[in-house]
Amino acid sequence: MSKDSESNKISRRNFLGKAGTGIVGSTILISSIGAADKTGPDLAEAPPIDPKETDILNLWVNGKKQKLKINPSSTLAEVLRNKLNLTGTKIVCNQGACGGCTVVMDNKAVYACHMLALDAAGKKVVTIEGLLEGEELNHLQEAFIEKDGLQCGFCTPGQIMSAYALLLSKPNPNREDIMEAMSGNICRCGAYPNILDSVLLAVQNKN
Ligand code: FES
Ligand code: FES
Repeated sequence: MSKDSESNKISRRNFLGKAGTGIVGSTILISSIGAADKTGPDLAEAPPIDPKETDILNLWVNGKKQKLKINPSSTLAEVLRNKLNLTGTKIVCNQGACGGCTVVMDNKAVYACHMLALDAAGKKVVTIEGLLEGEELNHLQEAFIEKDGLQCGFCTPGQIMSAYALLLSKPNPNREDIMEAMSGNICRCGAYPNILDSVLLAVQNKN
């Protein structure tokens, strides 16, 4: 990692402050709804038991063993978001066409919206939250900020997870390798040149 990168070491808190305008906007909106809800039914009431949650799923997520009661028709993306609150995994098209929901399973990038959660039984899943090193972003996440590898940020977790999977199998990819490995990740903002530069910077900083 270069000196500049080191001195600009960006914490998760700073990142959210800098890059999360859309997220913050949504959070404000949700908070407002939450505030309004407080005049309604008691939010502390236990959620109703879903009679369709008939199956037990055991898997590893971000290094932690999880045992979850799930609806067998749930996708991996739904379980990550709704059961484990790992909302960094985005559901965008929800039909395996955009890569927005990409996570890494047993070291390979997969579309979490396009597989049943039960098919992840016994596997090791890593989500964007799992890349954090304590409170610090990892080198890939930092490189995306440094090179402006995002605009709205909606595709970004999926882009970073695809890049992460690539670097696990090929630590020194060239531009073409990166383009090929990330061809399943669509960016509606068209931030592709900066996304490529971000991954190349991450490779350079790691060496
Ligand atoms: S949200 Fe999963 S591929 Fe688009
Ligand atoms: S940054 Fe907006 S979709 Fe990629």
